Amino acid sequence: MAVTATVQPLPVPQGSAINFGSIISGVDLENLSDEDFQVIHDTLYRTSVVVIKSKPDVSAKAQYELTRRFDPSSTAYGHGKTLDAKRSILHPDLKTVPHQPQVQVIGNGFVKDYEGLKDITLRHPHHRTFHREIIPEVEDLDYTRFYRWHIDAALYDLDPPLVTTLLAVSLPSKREQTLRYDDGTGDELRVSLGTTAFVSGYQMYERLSEEDKEFVRTSKIEYAPHPYIWMSKARSLPTGLGLYSERLELDESELPPIEPSKIKMFPMTWKNPVTGKLALQVHPSAIRRIHLKDGTVVEDLERVRDIVYRLQRPGISPEYVYAHDWEEGDMVLFNNHGVLHSVVGAFAPEEVRLFRQCNLSASRAPLSP
Ligand SMILES: [Fe+2]
Repeated sequence: MAVTATVQPLPVPQGSAINFGSIISGVDLENLSDEDFQVIHDTLYRTSVVVIKSKPDVSAKAQYELTRRFDPSSTAYGHGKTLDAKRSILHPDLKTVPHQPQVQVIGNGFVKDYEGLKDITLRHPHHRTFHREIIPEVEDLDYTRFYRWHIDAALYDLDPPLVTTLLAVSLPSKREQTLRYDDGTGDELRVSLGTTAFVSGYQMYERLSEEDKEFVRTSKIEYAPHPYIWMSKARSLPTGLGLYSERLELDESELPPIEPSKIKMFPMTWKNPVTGKLALQVHPSAIRRIHLKDGTVVEDLERVRDIVYRLQRPGISPEYVYAHDWEEGDMVLFNNHGVLHSVVGAFAPEEVRLFRQCNLSASRAPLSP
């Protein structure tokens, strides 16, 4: 079959420094040819974020199959069954599609009937449930924050999904909000309601000093066991880029049983399998220790967080953020081993939005530098 996909770079806002992202149109996701998949695959690994202009009624099966094609031997949802744990901070935000359990329904507001789910109330994650300092109620519909910068990953037992797919099924009427960093820099970003924000781990790495590049190439991050339960009482910095250190993390005795072999340790930089480039790829709120080249372990949690924050914060400055302005039928794919992303936005209860998300725990660990 011939290639029908057409690829264009994402339109970049004025003043932006982003060098990633593509738009693909002309593909049929229900009957995707090997040739078109190859175009999507290569575009994803070369440009990190791909927006496929598709239809809101793409089936959950087609979304699952598209996601799995990047990693054919993976079959289970990226968080496995860990979301069942009621204390996990991820638990309230996701509802599983009964006939396609690797696909989750996310969004905001009341939905009568969708994919076999009846009378569900979706809740768009709001920064007030996670950040220590909150934007006052009277400003809540005008201002927003990055909720939490992250990699989609269980970070315990399972390996981080290679790719995540997000489909916009329905959206409320369009409006804009101002995203505030509230970290003393005055940084702000004008965004569409409910944007998903992306930054490139490759750009985050590239702009480091040579000394910092050497540090992140040779150091490893140890993640907390059961991280989303461990961090459930801790509170986020206003940038959504990691947590305050107030000793609120749960003690090991308060967590489910820990199997040491399931604790995850990953390099700070992950190699792109197609381009060979390195991404600074760290999930800032789940970090526990840094293991240095010489065998030294940085144990102090506040110090670990300070080190990672200093390395990552320049990479989320407004000029490095791509904030996707969703349209119904957009299927956005991102290289989960090469970008960080964040939920954004504060919806009113009557602003209903319906999305589907899919990712699969990977069949391999991230590639080392
Ligand atoms: Fe995510």
